[in-house]
Amino acid sequence: MEFSIKSGSPEKQRSACVVAGVFEARKLTLPAELLDKAANGYIGDIVRRGDMEGKSGSTLLLHNVPGILADRVLLVGLGKEKDFREKEFREAIRTAVKTLNETGAFEAAIFLTELAVKKRGIAWRIRQTVIAALDATYRFEQFKSKKNDIRRPLRKLTLGVERRNELTIAEEALAQGLAIGEGVALAKDLGNLPPNICNPAWLADRARTLAGELNLSCEILERAEMEKLGMNALLSVAKGARQPPRLIVLGWRGGSASEKPLVLIGKGITFDSGGISLKPAADMDEMKYDMCGAASVLGAIAAAARMKLPLNLKVIIPAAENMPGGNASRPGDIVSSMSGQTIEIINTDAEGRLILCDALTYAEHILPDTVIDVATLTGACVIALGHVASGLYANKESLARDLLEAGDAAHDRAWHLPLWDDYQEQLKSNFADMSNTGGRPAGSVTAACFLARFAGKFDWAHLDIAGTAWKSGADKGATGRPVPLLAHYLLQRAGKLN
Ligand code: BES
Ligand code: MN
Ligand code: ZN
Repeated sequence: MEFSIKSGSPEKQRSACVVAGVFEARKLTLPAELLDKAANGYIGDIVRRGDMEGKSGSTLLLHNVPGILADRVLLVGLGKEKDFREKEFREAIRTAVKTLNETGAFEAAIFLTELAVKKRGIAWRIRQTVIAALDATYRFEQFKSKKNDIRRPLRKLTLGVERRNELTIAEEALAQGLAIGEGVALAKDLGNLPPNICNPAWLADRARTLAGELNLSCEILERAEMEKLGMNALLSVAKGARQPPRLIVLGWRGGSASEKPLVLIGKGITFDSGGISLKPAADMDEMKYDMCGAASVLGAIAAAARMKLPLNLKVIIPAAENMPGGNASRPGDIVSSMSGQTIEIINTDAEGRLILCDALTYAEHILPDTVIDVATLTGACVIALGHVASGLYANKESLARDLLEAGDAAHDRAWHLPLWDDYQEQLKSNFADMSNTGGRPAGSVTAACFLARFAGKFDWAHLDIAGTAWKSGADKGATGRPVPLLAHYLLQRAGKLN
């Protein structure tokens, strides 16, 4: 979809459709009022007759409104004015875009972007509008022989701003929204791909292509190189699979040469069968999404590169398939990680932490400023937080705070969970330095505690996205989370978050 910014009156827009909001109790917003004036009370009459009461989620499409240059007027209900906040703003945009996509209008000028939202300015409104519009119109149809054909899909969206002096900041926010929206779409595409296509080698090739497109450095390690580095925890996960593992390393250099990089690590299990500790059959197909952490860090670095952020960023993706087989790791096996710490594999289904711990040690070697790992790590996190918030852990309070704030601004929220030493006891092994499982209690916390043992030498945060990376049921599909959170965090660090 194409986007542009315009300051001007709604009644003067030559467009296939102009969009304005109506609050409950039939209260016209300012743009709707301007349209009504130009139309000699035509819109006010319709609203008074009760055809548009302003209930949130409702819409009314009008054709050939007198005095208006656009072919159509779309009124969007906004709910009660006093309750109109961030969530309601986003919902209004989604409703408008979805409705436009299904009408004959392939372009529109939308004036909902002028509505005041408490604590948020024009940049936030524009960025959110673009991200929400791209999110609402996303489709994954490459494997459908018959595409779900929308007659005239929405192709161009003009976003209204009230004052000319808002144009510069709105243009910048538009570019940011596009970069983030494209990052989200990339993460969704990668997540939705079937595991027979998106395997570790394929993911590495895709990363290499992306690097070429966006001017990123790219290094891909194969099994032999990982063996040399002593990444035995990572390799132990890949042993049962026919598909060989990869370690993908991408870099964006927007900062000075002396600046330490921020490192994003993404769990890249392209299919998690559980290994010898085999998962039950129900919903096992969804374990193709076990590489959504990897997908999200690729989405984030793509967004950062498209926004040309003035910071140094590295992405590390340990990629492997977790399969049973004659050569697979057994429960009871002991492996020596790259850090030298030994791990007793009690359950081969706790494989995420095994590949991440070696990626963390690899990150330590490139002297990072901060490391954030993203992983569909535990079913326990889904039990704790459901599908609303990602689990957040950090060994530094201010990092946790910054990430929480980024999540709030992006409406891609996380919730801070404890990393207290008290939980470390659960990882005790009689035979190695630690066990790879901590038992049933606090499963998401003990997984994070396991990772913390490999992140002692730098500022580190961990996002458990098991509940937020994809949706099940009728709307099954990747969400692209937490690309918006990560991108907002990067924007804020680069001093570009208005
Ligand atoms: N990828 C799964 C976590 C998962 C499960 C995410 C279900 C989303 C939905 C992970 O590798 C896993 O299997 N974790 C185990 C850990 C346990 C064996 C300690 C889990 O959560 O059951
Ligand atoms: Mn698993
Ligand atoms: Zn897994």
